[in-house]
Amino acid sequence: MMCGIIGCISGENCYEKLLSSLARLEYRGYDSAGVCLLSEEGVLRVRKKKGYVSNLAGKRLAGGAGIGHTRWATHGKPSDENAHPHLCGKFALVHNGIIENYAALKEELLAAGEVFLSETDSEVVVRLLSHAYRGDFLGAVREVCARLSGSYALAVLCSDFPGEIVAARKGSPLVAGAAKGALYVCSDVPALCGEAEFLCPVEDGEFVVLSDAVRIYDAQGRQVERAFSRVKSEQRAASVAEGTFMQSEIAQIPRALRDTLAGLEDTDFAPCARALRGAKRVWCAACGTAYHAALSFADLLAEEGFCDVFCSTSSEFRYKTPLIGEKDVFVAVSQSGETADTLEAARLAKSRGAYLIGITNVADSSLSRLVHFNIAMRAGPEIAVAATKSYNAQLVCLFYLAAQMLFFKRGAVPGWAGEMVSLPEKAEECFRTFGQMSALAAKLRAAKGMFFLGRNADLPTALEGALKVREIACLFAEGYPAGELKHGSLALVEEGFPVLALSTREALFSKTENALAEVRARGAYAVLLSQSEEVLSRSCADCKVLLPQVCAPLMPVLSVLPLQYFACRMSLLRGMDPDKPRNLAKSVTVE
Ligand code: M6R
Repeated sequence: MMCGIIGCISGENCYEKLLSSLARLEYRGYDSAGVCLLSEEGVLRVRKKKGYVSNLAGKRLAGGAGIGHTRWATHGKPSDENAHPHLCGKFALVHNGIIENYAALKEELLAAGEVFLSETDSEVVVRLLSHAYRGDFLGAVREVCARLSGSYALAVLCSDFPGEIVAARKGSPLVAGAAKGALYVCSDVPALCGEAEFLCPVEDGEFVVLSDAVRIYDAQGRQVERAFSRVKSEQRAASVAEGTFMQSEIAQIPRALRDTLAGLEDTDFAPCARALRGAKRVWCAACGTAYHAALSFADLLAEEGFCDVFCSTSSEFRYKTPLIGEKDVFVAVSQSGETADTLEAARLAKSRGAYLIGITNVADSSLSRLVHFNIAMRAGPEIAVAATKSYNAQLVCLFYLAAQMLFFKRGAVPGWAGEMVSLPEKAEECFRTFGQMSALAAKLRAAKGMFFLGRNADLPTALEGALKVREIACLFAEGYPAGELKHGSLALVEEGFPVLALSTREALFSKTENALAEVRARGAYAVLLSQSEEVLSRSCADCKVLLPQVCAPLMPVLSVLPLQYFACRMSLLRGMDPDKPRNLAKSVTVE
């Protein structure tokens, strides 16, 4: 499951702290929520409901130790019964992940006379705990975890141990936190940042005991010394300055670019110079929006003739990598640094001896710790499920990396690299298109679907524009290479069908215009975005959007901005919440 878990020990206000942490986990996407508090007398009190975290408000539940959960349903529909925490005997448990052998374990428990109250895979874990327990809380959790296959982050209460929480991690993210008078475990750094002052990542296979302090144990039960680091300012929780998180995050793009560029200037790339200089092949893997950023990077390196570059969605990577090996560089791109498919792809590349570079927005994320060299985006916390500012920041990191690679190989940075410094200001200039994009969204709000077209470097941007519209406006939208339409998809174009085309590459202006002429001849409503006034003035498009000028290789950082804003307006005009798209979670921590 792509759920969020929280555990908290606190002198006072544990219930309130749990609810506020759960509210911070909301952005990950969920369909039900719950908490369980353990009082000093050893009484477990639970409240769990289908729907929003706000449904949990009510009479305060007493207790100084508590666990909480936001559930994103996989095993069993969203319902009060399937919501976590799950209880059995002296135990209460919250779980993020998937227990792959749950069916066999459930059969065993049913045969032993257990009665299940939910359809979840997680309930088997709490029932196994109840069976395994002989007075040793941590021992029982370790014993049960040894029987689980799949992925999990667990937080458990036991009524014999008021003031204690045991947590465990394998494959699903978990971080420990501390503040004055409170200790935490949580799935998510951003969700803890408003509460904890110090953080410490928990590694796979480790166990955490929260009581008077945070203690971490390895799989063999030996206590592990681990340093806590102070929460950095860029990790602090975000707040909405304007309307929705997505609107705020689009407004923050210039700042995100400025901060990311400043961070890159301070980054010492020398440790990866040898690997980059000697790279035989470059492989990139990522999911969703991050994959589109990776596509732009691959296009740029290929255009520069760096070496063979292969780009794949992380979920497909393992099936397409017969050749990856030593002397290859593998670039993994992930805003959260916790996407399960991307982590798996990176592990595979590492096992084959490739040099791993990660690009993440979350310090201390699983990906940042897995790779040989991590490049930090400094986009700031991204709360809206739809990625916006992180995409622009990813592109900047990737293009900067490309410039470093070219420098290490050829001894000179490419000419376009010098123009990167102007990107924040140019992004601000893009805001001038928003009035027009808003009017366009109002005109197209009732459309049944739309196409986004682009050729070459504009194709990833077209794919990203379409993904944004699908994701938050719940509208069929597809991105295509402009030259591909007549090979099938043109059949969908009819009177009034919107087609938005990007044209930022001079050599391809006329070819993209041809594609627009084709769709317009079939009645489409054509929109063209370009930085060339001449191209716009000559175009047959019904709506023409002028982009700011920047050298061609950097255009994708800017040309996506009007599309991000357009999708957000479409979502709002269609009565949706762009921050919480249907069926989707921010951090996809299962394969
Ligand atoms: O955290 P990641 O960058 O690894 O996430 C990858 C995708 O799940 C993510 O980009 C997703 O496609 C966005 N919700 C799209 O807006």
